[in-house]
Amino acid sequence: MASAEQAESQDDAFVDPLILGALKPPGADDGARLVREASGFRDPATGATFPDRDGIPSLIAGVAEDDTAVTGRIQAFYEEHPFPSYEGLQDFGDLVERGRGNPFSARLLQAIGYNKQILECGCGTGQLSQFLSLNGNHVLGIDLSRSSLALALEFKRRNAIARASFVQMNIFALGIKDATFDVVISSGVLHHTKDARRAFAAIVPKAKPGGIVIVGLYNRYGRLPTAWRARLIGLVGPRIDYVVRHRIRDARKAEIWIKDQYYNPHETWHSIDEVLGWFAENDVDYLGCHPPILGTAPAPDLFAASDPGSWPARLATQLGWIGSISAEGALFVMIGRRRGG
Ligand SMILES: C[S@@+](CC[C@H](N)C(=O)[O-])C[C@H]1O[C@@H](n2cnc3c(N)ncnc32)[C@H](O)[C@@H]1O
Repeated sequence: MASAEQAESQDDAFVDPLILGALKPPGADDGARLVREASGFRDPATGATFPDRDGIPSLIAGVAEDDTAVTGRIQAFYEEHPFPSYEGLQDFGDLVERGRGNPFSARLLQAIGYNKQILECGCGTGQLSQFLSLNGNHVLGIDLSRSSLALALEFKRRNAIARASFVQMNIFALGIKDATFDVVISSGVLHHTKDARRAFAAIVPKAKPGGIVIVGLYNRYGRLPTAWRARLIGLVGPRIDYVVRHRIRDARKAEIWIKDQYYNPHETWHSIDEVLGWFAENDVDYLGCHPPILGTAPAPDLFAASDPGSWPARLATQLGWIGSISAEGALFVMIGRRRGG
């Protein structure tokens, strides 16, 4: 296993050997493998090479082939506005403190436990991936945006975080073997793709049978106040936004948040029942929802099975989100377990 000292002595683009074993050329079958060379990946069977781009390990594919052009537009947007950026986080200690102080990420790390393999799809600048690499976990963060991954890699190198690896990839053309990760997470991402339902279907097979799948999405009801604020922000200015008023201190980070929330080139909104449908289509059993569904007892362990409640309870929960999580973007998280195993 790679040590922190090893990472320090490697280049910024160091890929953890355990993660390397889960990679393949995009579009190849799962028997294919990749080796890491000085400035890229190589398929030893075919000799095909996948050079790093701007110093970022890259297995990017399928962007130009997207006939909706959403993937290219979203990539360009997040190249210009890497999200969420590292404001206020000087070192790994700051990041860990912030992660432990956030009830959701703290419970997530606790539920994941130790020595697991975790895939984060759409990791942005990589904070969650770096945090989850605690406890001996090995994490792969993938994203379209090289400028976001560059910030992730810079932080990783500076703090010698050996077990977090970052590779540029497109969710619709993943260079990852099926059934290789204990946990697959994608939060705040699938609603920026050309087809969130298809994107979900693309990431689930990367979880091992019995593995955990976690998806965070904009809520259909909770997101309404953001649309109302979007009509006013040009007149009133960014302080109409609760997060800018109460959470963010850094001007550049505030600018990126406002762009992400109010000027995004593409976003879709989703409901709990819709995601339950995706779970059923992809053989994922429902475990829980965050914030919890009204009338259901939140399980102490984030990965314990809980009751999804009745449809009126789910509707009432989401209508309630118009006055609660809407202030911070209306992201709700659903957790499931891939069947089998
Ligand atoms: C709002 S940011 C969320 C970043 C991070 N998950 C977070 O919550 O802080 C959305 C990210 O999804 C990435 N993304 C969007 N579509 C993608 C795709 N098809 N493949 C990979 N990443 C994608 C974007 O590049 C961007 O970094």
